[in-house]
Order: sequence, then C-alpha cells, then structure tokens
Amino acid sequence: MSVVVGRLSGKTTVITGAASGIGRATALLFAKEGAKVVAVDIANAELTSGEIERSGGQSFSARADVTKASEVRDVMESAVQRYGKLDVLFCCAGRVSFGNVVDLTEEEWDSVLDTNLKSMFLCAKYAVPHMIKQGGGSIINMSSVSGLVAGVDEAAYDASKAGIILLTKATALDFGPKGVRVNCICPSSTDTPFLRKYADLTPDPKKFLDETAKMNAALRRLIQPEEVAHLALYLASDESGAVTGTAMVIDAGYTAI
Ligand SMILES: NC(=O)c1ccc[n+]([C@@H]2O[C@H](COP(=O)([O-])OP(=O)(O)OC[C@H]3O[C@@H](n4cnc5c(N)ncnc54)[C@H](O)[C@@H]3O)[C@@H](O)[C@H]2O)c1
Repeated sequence: MSVVVGRLSGKTTVITGAASGIGRATALLFAKEGAKVVAVDIANAELTSGEIERSGGQSFSARADVTKASEVRDVMESAVQRYGKLDVLFCCAGRVSFGNVVDLTEEEWDSVLDTNLKSMFLCAKYAVPHMIKQGGGSIINMSSVSGLVAGVDEAAYDASKAGIILLTKATALDFGPKGVRVNCICPSSTDTPFLRKYADLTPDPKKFLDETAKMNAALRRLIQPEEVAHLALYLASDESGAVTGTAMVIDAGYTAI
C-alpha cells in the first residue's frame, strides 16, 4: 500500500481499541487514506500497527488502559512527540456488560462506566489542548444505539453509551470556537469479536447471530466493522468540516421501527 494523497493525508490519528473489531478496521482504513496511526489498546495493538507498517503505512502502537489518566496522557504526548501534532482522536475502546441494576455489582458498574465513559473524558482531556495548539482537530467517540434506546439487562452499558452522547455534545460546544469538532457514532449490532464472544456464551450462537441480525430491522443483517470505519473516516476528514455535536446512527434500520 503506497498512498500519495488520501482523504487523511498528513493527519495524525490516535485510535483506542485498535487491536480488534471496529477500532482495528478503522486503523487500517485511516492508514490506507494516508493518516499516521497511533494504535492504542490494552493488548495486541502492535498487531494492527505492524500490519499497517508492512503495507507501507506509518504507525506505532501504544499499550494503554484507557481508564488510567496517566496512561492516556502519555499516549497523546507520544503521538505529538513522534508525529508533531494530533489531528484526529477516535475513542473506540469499550466493553459490554449484562445485568439489571439489582444484579449488577458495584465493581461491574464502575468497570463499565470507567471503560466506556470515563475513558472518553480522559482522552478528550489530554487530546484537546494539543488540538487547540495547532488550530483544531476532530474527535470521534464510540457510542451505540444502546445510547438511544434501552435494552433488557443492559443497565450499565446503556447508561455509559447514553452518557457518551451528551459528553460529545457538551465538548463540541466547549471547544467548537477553538476549531475542535466532536461527534459520536451509534452503531447497532456489528460483526466483531465483541459480538461473537457474546454469541458463544449462548446455547446456540448461530441462532443468536441470526436473531441479532434481524433486529437490524430494515436490512436484516449485521453491520460490518469496515462500514462503521467509513463513517469514522468521514468524521475524521475535512469533508465533515461543518459537522459537530452530532450522534450519527449507523444501524441498518434498528431504530427505524
Ligand atoms: N460490535 C457491536 O455490535 C457494537 C455495537 C455498537 C457499539 N459498539 C462499540 O464499538 C466499540 C468497539 O467494539 P468492537 O465490537 O469492535 O469490540 P472488540 O471487543 O472487538 O474491540 C474492543 C477493543 O477495545 C479494547 N479495550 C477494552 N477495554 C480497554 C481498556 N480499558 N483500555 C484499552 N483498550 C481497551 C479491547 O482490548 C479490544 O481490542 C465499543 O465501544 C463498543 O461498545 C459495538
């Protein structure tokens, strides 16, 4: 892969959750479009950055837990040290959890809220000052249709994803005047290791996946990680220069009914 001009040429991007699923697909797409990619994950991010480098792209990996302030701060600083600036931040790391408020333990609640929501606060906290210094940037947060409509036994996950939507809008208002755009993405069921892992816990994984696909009510199929990556690409690129404070749904019709 040798890119001369792509939709992200010259941009430095940081992607969390880059080892797997949507984060990985986005890292590969951003690199193909000419971005320098800092692949961040709690494990295995080097597999993604290695794949990008072998294809002729520019990337390095950072092992970091996005719930830890000092690790997140170090990631943003290392991106700027290595590539001179930070243009795009895609906060994609997340985890699922099931249970109602009676069944959930306090530890589980804290873990889901920290991984999915506090991490977005920390990433923005340490990325925005770098973006302001260089005149602006684009932040993309990973929410979910679960931030818009509730599901049974998803209390912590739904609360975390709904929180991301208003954190996104608040941050867009706060830093729009400084040129920082902030948007979030709300996918429904997407065919990633995250979904497959959950399917494997059910008595009939194939049936689970078929039924889950039908909940994407218009197209009646699972979304592919690359399709979500293309929405992130639009939000990362200058093509979306007037788009900020939005929650963009990509759900094959899940919320249409
Ligand atoms: N797959 C879906 O159906 C779906 C639908 C809507 C939203 N999402 C959201 O998309 C995002 C990515 O999901 P995916 O399906 O690609 O999942 P995935 O499990 O394939 O990838 C998630 C990645 O996040 C990383 N991660 C988890 N906790 C971390 C931490 N504390 N620090 C750093 N990295 C951490 C994991 O190691 C993993 O590589 C999540 O935020 C998820 O909630 C997924």
